[in-house]
Amino acid sequence: MVDLKIHIKIALGYFFITALLGFLLRLDHISDLLPNYRYIVHTHSHIALLGWVYTALTTLIYQLFLHKKELSKKYRTLFLFTQITIIGMLVTFPIQGYGLFSIIFSTLYLFASYGFMWFFIRYTSKDQKQTFSYKLIRAGLWYLVISSLGPWALGIIMNTTGSSSDWYRSSIYFFLHFQYNGWFIVTLFGLLFHILEKGMVSISKREFKLFFRLLNLGVICSFFTSILWLEPHSFFYAIALIAVLLHGIAFYILFKKIRNNWKVVRAKLEGSTQLLLKIAGALLVTKLLFQFSGSLPHYAYQISQNIDLIVAFLHWVFLGVVSISIFAFLGHFKLLAYSRKALLLYIAGFALTEILLFYKGAIAWLGTVSIDNLPMLITISSGVLLLAIGILFLKQLNYKKS
Ligand code: HEM
Repeated sequence: MVDLKIHIKIALGYFFITALLGFLLRLDHISDLLPNYRYIVHTHSHIALLGWVYTALTTLIYQLFLHKKELSKKYRTLFLFTQITIIGMLVTFPIQGYGLFSIIFSTLYLFASYGFMWFFIRYTSKDQKQTFSYKLIRAGLWYLVISSLGPWALGIIMNTTGSSSDWYRSSIYFFLHFQYNGWFIVTLFGLLFHILEKGMVSISKREFKLFFRLLNLGVICSFFTSILWLEPHSFFYAIALIAVLLHGIAFYILFKKIRNNWKVVRAKLEGSTQLLLKIAGALLVTKLLFQFSGSLPHYAYQISQNIDLIVAFLHWVFLGVVSISIFAFLGHFKLLAYSRKALLLYIAGFALTEILLFYKGAIAWLGTVSIDNLPMLITISSGVLLLAIGILFLKQLNYKKS
C-alpha cells in the first residue's frame, strides 16, 4: 500500500518552501537581497499551487476513493513522475524564470495532472460514482484541466502579442481563477460532502442538484471578475455580480443543511477540525464580500490597480480558505498530526499579515499616511507564518505510519 503520510510530509515540505520563498520576497521589500524578484515569485507561486495544494488535495482524493492495493504500483509511478516535474520547477524557475527547462517541467506537470484526472475517473467504482462527493471532485478536476488552458495560451501569446499585452495578464488570471475558485474550492466541497454523506446527513438529490448547479454556474460566471480590470461592457460587471449571488445562495443552502444536522455533524468531527472548518467557512463568506466590492464598476478598476489589495485577497484565499480547510481535512482523515500551538500560531500569523496587507493597500488607495515600518511589520508577520508551517512540518516528519 502507498504510505500517504509520506505524501503529506512532501506536501508540507512544499508548503514550508513556499512560506520561506514568500518570506524572502517580503524581506526583499526592506533589504533588496534577491538578484531577481520575479523569478522567485514564479518559483513561489508554482510550488504553492502545484506543490503544496495539488499534492495535498490529490493525496486526500486518493485516500478516499482509490486507496487499494492493486492500484499502488501504478499510482506510485504517477506520483513519482509528478514529483519530478515539481522539483524540476523548483530548481529551474529561480535560475531562468520562464525559460526552456522550467517550461518543459511545467508542461510535463500538466500531463501528470491530466493523468491524475484519468486515474480518478478510471478507477473509482460504480458505487463511488453515485456519491455527491464524487460528482463535486470530478467537477473540481475538470476545472484543473480547464485552468491549464491558461498556460497553453501563454505559449502562443508569448510568441505573438508578448508579455506586456492584456492577453498575457488575462491568461494568468484565467489560470489562477480556475485553479482556486474551480479546482481547489469545488474539490474542498467534495471532501466536505464525503464527511456529510458518511455522517449520514440526508441530502436529497434535488437539494444536491440545486447546490451543484449554483456552485458551478457561480465558478464560471465569477471568471468575469478577473477581467474587469480591462473595463469591459457593463454586461460583464452584471455577470460578475450574478456570480456572487449564485454562490451566496449555494453557500446558504449548505449552511442551512449543516445547521439543521449540527448534532450529527458535530459528533463526527474533532474539536480542532470543527474550529478550522468554521474559520475557513467564515473566510469563504468574507471572500464573497470582497468579490462583491470588486465587481462594482468604480471599485473594480481601483482594486485592479492596487497590487497590495490583489496580493492580500489572493492570500486570503490561499492561506485562509484553502490551506486552513486542507489542514482540517488532513486532520480529520488522520493524515496530519494536529499541533494546536502551531495551528494557533498559523492563524495569528495569517490574521496579522492580512490586516497589514489590506492596510497597506488601503493607504495606497486613499493616499493617507502609513504607519512607520509597515514593510518590516509585514515581513515579521510572514516570519510568524513561516515558523508555524515549520513546526507543522517538523511534527509531521515524526508522524508515524499507522
Ligand atoms: C506562507 C506564506 C506566504 C507568503 C509570505 C507569501 C508571500 C508572497 C509574496 C510577497 C508574493 C509576491 C507579490 C508580488 O510582489 O507580486 C506572493 C505572490 C504569490 N503567492 Fe504567496 N505567500 C505565501 C503563501 C502562499 C500560498 C500558500 C499560496 C498558494 C497556495 C501562494 C500563492 C501566491 C501566488 C499565486 C502569487 C503570485 C500572485 C500574482 O502573480 O499576482 N502564496 N506571495
